[in-house]
Amino acid sequence: MSDLLKEIQKRKTFGIISHPDAGKTTLTEKLLLFGGAIQEAGAVKSNKIKKGATSDFMEIERQRGISVATSVLAFEYRDHKINILDTPGHKDFAEDTYRTLTAVDSVIVVIDVAKGVEEQTEKLVKVCRMRNIPMLVFINKLDREGKDAFDLLDEVEQKLGLTVCPLSLPIGMGSDFQGIYNIWENNIQLFLEEKKQKVGDSIRFDDINDASIDEVIGEKAAGTLREELDLIQSVYPEFSREDYMKGDLQPVFFGSALNNFGVRELLDAFIDIAPMPQPKESDTRLVKPEENNFTGFVFKIHANMDPKHRDRLAFVKIVSGTFKRNENYLLVREGKKMKFSSPNAFFADKKEVVEESFPGDIVGLHDTGSFRIGDTLTGGEKLSFKGIPSFSPEHFRYINNNDPLKAKQLAKGIDQLMDEGVAQLFTLEMNGRKIIGTVGALQYEVIQYRLEHEYGAKCTYEPLSMHKACWVEADEKSEEFKEFARLKQRFLARDKYNQLVFLADSSFTIHMTQEKFPNVKLHFISEFQ
Ligand code: G4P
Repeated sequence: MSDLLKEIQKRKTFGIISHPDAGKTTLTEKLLLFGGAIQEAGAVKSNKIKKGATSDFMEIERQRGISVATSVLAFEYRDHKINILDTPGHKDFAEDTYRTLTAVDSVIVVIDVAKGVEEQTEKLVKVCRMRNIPMLVFINKLDREGKDAFDLLDEVEQKLGLTVCPLSLPIGMGSDFQGIYNIWENNIQLFLEEKKQKVGDSIRFDDINDASIDEVIGEKAAGTLREELDLIQSVYPEFSREDYMKGDLQPVFFGSALNNFGVRELLDAFIDIAPMPQPKESDTRLVKPEENNFTGFVFKIHANMDPKHRDRLAFVKIVSGTFKRNENYLLVREGKKMKFSSPNAFFADKKEVVEESFPGDIVGLHDTGSFRIGDTLTGGEKLSFKGIPSFSPEHFRYINNNDPLKAKQLAKGIDQLMDEGVAQLFTLEMNGRKIIGTVGALQYEVIQYRLEHEYGAKCTYEPLSMHKACWVEADEKSEEFKEFARLKQRFLARDKYNQLVFLADSSFTIHMTQEKFPNVKLHFISEFQ
């Protein structure tokens, strides 16, 4: 086997997604503890926007400061290199999370046992389903009173549209929580509350009818457990790795991240079944990780916190071959050759200059403004990876220049912030006015603050009542399109990539427009080919 293939097979790159507060940070930390990457709990900074003493906005700046450190958390476990890609939980940063999901090979979905499936989980799982990303589900906080396990499994199936396959089962819950039956490994792990933070012993039973189970967890609980296992066998599909890999089947685990309970089981099953780095579709062909020539793509750009240096860090997921320091690579969009003298590799608590990186890894490249989200880098081949679409923003405002002498700075600032993916820019066809579209209202404050502090430009906003941005697909020479363009003239704009966008003021308008112009297709996502 080639050295490259060995490196590829060692790697698992994944993301953890959840609604805020379900336990993503806690679970990440416990996984890192297993890998020995950190020594104590509390070492992983939450990427959450905490409400409280400071304003949300100052929280974002604080958060931006730590998010480079938590963007990629790498650790070794059972001879594997595991890369966890951080995904912001706050809904205003959902777009960031969607983009990060283009760089993962699988995900773990964390659900709070008491709250069940929440809004943000639904949205993120939908994106994963669109891409058929293999998913594992971890139902967390079993030490607390929560919903019945079977009701939850139903909820996960119905609300998330998943086909679940329980690989563990809780024995009791909340104050009666005794432990977990691990269907994957066929054993029971008892919950020893007094040993909080420690992994309890697991007791192996080869036969579920073993009488000693009754002794360990009590006759009643043992009876219920046997009935429930029977039910699982008859109702849920058997685990199939193939179906899991295709995104057709989602194994479910139960546990308590805070108590480190059920986490090792989750991690071990993850190592056994989660995919290694996968091939990726480009505009010309499918690129396989084991190909010798390097390819990769930018999924995230992080601006430097120091306003004096307009230095940015572009996060590149390696798709194929070996990335080497000081080698010439092609930025395909610009046809520009680039060399990187200090590419960063990420670890749990630090980043370091790295000589070589392999498929599945993320390298951080210093950049002064060349990169855009979605850019492809190769060893020379002209191909571009697909799959970093923009979603329709939820909020729209006109942006105005507040200092005529700083028009250039403003334009540059807007351009670079849009490259970073902070928000989306639309330019009205009719009069060239600029509109900023965002997922959350918080981004407007961020843009204003950063334009002023990093580019010396001042802006104001004007409200604009829009419902959605729809990317237009049509034959621009057809009479139907010409009529559409004439009637909707005031609402047509171009996005950053010069794609035509129809700004609709209500869902009713969209509906009527689609009825009237059936051959003018409206998409809520920028990539529809
Ligand atoms: P997030 O990243 O998904 O937003 O969630 P995070 O891990 O920060 O967890 C949210 C809260 O839930 C935290 O409490 C955390 O301690 C708690 N938690 C996580 N896992 C479990 C669990 O298995 N059982 C119980 N009972 N609680 C759990 P907090 O009070 O909001 O924060 P902190 O002060 O403890 O940090």
